Amino acid sequence: MLIRPRRNRKSAAIRDMVQESHLNSSNLIYPIFIIDGENKKEEVVSMPGIYRFSIDNLLKEVEESMNLGLRSFDLFPSIDESLKDPLATESYREGNLYLKAIQQVKKEFPEACVITDVAMDPYSSDGHDGIVQDGEILNDETLVVLAKMALAHAQAGADIIAPSDMMDGRIGYLREHLDSHGFKHVSLMSYTAKYASAFYGPFRDALNSAPKAGDKKTYQMNPANVKEAIIEAELDAYEGADFLMVKPGLPYLDVIRALSERFDLPIAAYNVSGEYSMLKAASQNGWLNEELAVMETLIGFRRAGATAILTYHAKEVLEKGWLK
Ligand code: PBG
Repeated sequence: MLIRPRRNRKSAAIRDMVQESHLNSSNLIYPIFIIDGENKKEEVVSMPGIYRFSIDNLLKEVEESMNLGLRSFDLFPSIDESLKDPLATESYREGNLYLKAIQQVKKEFPEACVITDVAMDPYSSDGHDGIVQDGEILNDETLVVLAKMALAHAQAGADIIAPSDMMDGRIGYLREHLDSHGFKHVSLMSYTAKYASAFYGPFRDALNSAPKAGDKKTYQMNPANVKEAIIEAELDAYEGADFLMVKPGLPYLDVIRALSERFDLPIAAYNVSGEYSMLKAASQNGWLNEELAVMETLIGFRRAGATAILTYHAKEVLEKGWLK
């Protein structure tokens, strides 16, 4: 045999020398759920180890995470049902929970990168990402609400705004709205290829944000498609996105690869709630070695072409020293 690939695997020194992909704490974005009140830390039943924090405890969680080497955080609010309405007006009301959280994190930790989620669902009495009329999701009318929300986030100090709604034209619309209000420096991380997925189940438990009727298939993508992701990416790149995101992560590694081959923008992968819960549940049952399974998952995103990875495992990975 002339060629023996095993020679490059024969020792740890050689294996490390020829390793193609690497994972660093700077690649990780930690999504955190927030809730109104004081001194609250409620575990999400379907996501063991993940909590909804009141702002005081959010600040502690961010501080601990920063001390471990994390710098980027994506915040998601759990909103009381009584504050929801069909137009998600709570989402941009001055002084709301989310805006206070952004302001306080940026005030205490100016060097942290705060990423905010733009979509109507946590605030919508219909539980949809857009305005619902007679069972239909209105696209252009929704853009107006999203723009108000994004501007409020920018004013509160958001570093990166991440629209997760999948309305057409939103990146260009938000870019224009932010620029014309003096927020040219605020970045847009587009949920470019967001699929209508079963893997968001635990997230919707965490925020109590599931649709009251119907599903999200008229705006989120069909899991069977990848060419459509290219169309979405072309639009986002053209409209001024700074990052392209693929979501969920694990079942869509080919989509990450396709976008990373065609576009020079950084690609983010969202290792979503259901993916987290699968590994957690199997590990808790002793069916998987959690450290090995988590690290294999995360390096898989890097190999596929993702620069940044949004993952609920972020803090635990650093706490337990799994990167070393
Ligand atoms: C809502 C949104 C969702 C997630 C992030 N933003 C859920 C949905 O679209 O229903 C899911 C994240 C996760 O499952 O971890 N716009």
